[in-house]
Amino acid sequence: MPDDDMTDVQLESRLREQEYFSPPPEFVGQANATDRDIYDEVGEFPEGFDRYAELLDWDERWDRTFDGSNPPFFEWFVGGKLNASHNCIDRHLDERKNQTAICWEGSDGTQENITYRDLYRRVNETAAALRARGVEEDDVVTIHLPMVPALPITMLACARLGAPHSVVFAGFSAQALAERTDSADSDYIVTIDGYYRRGAFLSHIEKTDEALDLADREPDVLTWLRHDEPQADISDDYIRMGDLLDEHAGERVDPVSRDAEDPLFLMYTSGTTGKPKGCQHRTGGYLAYVAATSKHVLDIKPGDTYWCAADIGWITGHSYIVYGPLALGTTSVMYEDTPDHPHKGRIWEIAEKYDVDIFHTSPTAVRMFMKWGEEYPERYDFDFRHMTTVGEPIQPEAWLWYYKHIGGEDAVIVDTWWQTETGGHLLTNLPALDDMKPGSAGRAAPGIEPALLDDSGENVPEAAGQAGNLVIERPWPSMLQTVYGDDERFIDTYWADYSDTDSDDWRDWTYKAGDGAVQSQDGYWRVLGRLDDVMNVAGHRLGTMELESAAAEVEQVAEAAVAPREDAQKGEVPDVYAVVREGVEESDAVRAEIVSAVEAEIGKFARPANVVFVDDLPKTRSGKIMRRILENISNGEDLGNTTTLRDPSVPEQIREQTVGE
Ligand code: PRX
Repeated sequence: MPDDDMTDVQLESRLREQEYFSPPPEFVGQANATDRDIYDEVGEFPEGFDRYAELLDWDERWDRTFDGSNPPFFEWFVGGKLNASHNCIDRHLDERKNQTAICWEGSDGTQENITYRDLYRRVNETAAALRARGVEEDDVVTIHLPMVPALPITMLACARLGAPHSVVFAGFSAQALAERTDSADSDYIVTIDGYYRRGAFLSHIEKTDEALDLADREPDVLTWLRHDEPQADISDDYIRMGDLLDEHAGERVDPVSRDAEDPLFLMYTSGTTGKPKGCQHRTGGYLAYVAATSKHVLDIKPGDTYWCAADIGWITGHSYIVYGPLALGTTSVMYEDTPDHPHKGRIWEIAEKYDVDIFHTSPTAVRMFMKWGEEYPERYDFDFRHMTTVGEPIQPEAWLWYYKHIGGEDAVIVDTWWQTETGGHLLTNLPALDDMKPGSAGRAAPGIEPALLDDSGENVPEAAGQAGNLVIERPWPSMLQTVYGDDERFIDTYWADYSDTDSDDWRDWTYKAGDGAVQSQDGYWRVLGRLDDVMNVAGHRLGTMELESAAAEVEQVAEAAVAPREDAQKGEVPDVYAVVREGVEESDAVRAEIVSAVEAEIGKFARPANVVFVDDLPKTRSGKIMRRILENISNGEDLGNTTTLRDPSVPEQIREQTVGE
């Protein structure tokens, strides 16, 4: 094809075509998935997924693999019964009760090796304690805990009782915690007095104090302590987990047998409009899928030491620190503090200390390690067999650095594309079966049917190197069940655009991921990023609307819009464009108020990179803000088509104001 006929995206993807890297023979020789037949076997829809469910212990086997009769409310392993906590703990006791299940490294280097037997005892006692405080099957328990053992223990205790958990990342603000507690109809918040950040004790419980003032509900609060004695003021109304556990020492709680379709947890995530959505995940299909992908994609074996350096407060930690790895009976490492504390070699020091075999991180972290330099990893003696990246596109340069300086050119890398909603990996190579290509997620996971559609819903030709809207054409077991309490929003957000919503044939329903992607000639998928108003800041997903409504809370602000600015390290950072009210001076004080409003509404991790004062925002004649234009301004790009604007001179004015900043 002559180059003039290629679209920019095609051209770009051709120019950036990368070389391949083969998995080393030593890796292939020991891998869990070495037979390409897995694609055909799992791809036999829907029964192919039975082999995933067969990785688990079931109290009752399912009668039907899949029920698609009420789309898009699909059901998996219908009639089956199981308990997730049993699958992650009890069933391993015969074979590996003295093996470490969770290897926790505290901020100051203190360590807890929690064996499967310890985990069994601690989860049982915690379940007994929660039950004694009234937690029953189907009650949603909000968990606002940092990276301490209490977090997975509380999650597994909830799972044992059949009480869905809703973990709110510890970095979220009181306001965000209150909103999620209300939205989930939750009557319990589990928290802790504090934890360590860069070596300093950070009080955490005050966020719960404030959330109780802000929330409509009046949840009971149960609190863990980071040390034996409280390090922060704890309200007398709160229940101390330590006291409760003493009362229930040695108690056992039978795992509650859950229907495969009963919810295991909620995970809130940002969308394009309104408040965050509570993605509801089922017990059977979710656990089966994350166990299988942990086995085939992450290549986890029980004897491995596996370290996913994400936070359990996000979906990656749920699926690939807690549920997948523990369902397979491996040793999962958890680390409390940041990678640069007390020095920039901390991650590699821990990897050496525990002899980690499999390492899992984000492109943002890789870019940071790269910036710090290879002298840090070089000081430590660690040897990964397998490495993962997740959460954002990884630039080939960062990939190559990771491969060379962290993997020593003999570890495989999987670039896994998936989402909070998908529960587990959907686009990724199986590492022993296909070569790696830097910057590409690779093939679709077994049984997954991705496709690209153009904006009118027509199929983009397969493997044509052309960009399109990424969709998944066939259901899979770990897909979200619904948006908690809002089936309509579930349909509108994920299905309405590309499905025949009047049809009761599941084949007419297509899941919209919200990402743009390209499938190159070799069949490999490369995910380009969000097509909607969702940003990806250091691998954290943020809705521009949420940021905007936080900025607009500031009294002096008449109107605000947010656009992502590309950032060499964090991928994207938010720029706020604000119009102040008549008579208000555009000052640093107002800027600071906007920043603190975002921190208060969402959390410090969402802090805007820049606040730019402008006279007007670019709007269409119907009054819709054209964020794309702001994005172009933030990134120093051409303005693009401005003819649909009510006042086409606005972008130039903004550009001048921005340059003048
Ligand atoms: O834009 C995609 C990006 O992260 C979004 C999902 O974010 P979240 O629900 O927070 O889950 C993150 C962890 C699974 C996607 O819509 N994304 C995720 N993985 C990749 C990615 N973009 C490119 N390559 C990836 N491997």
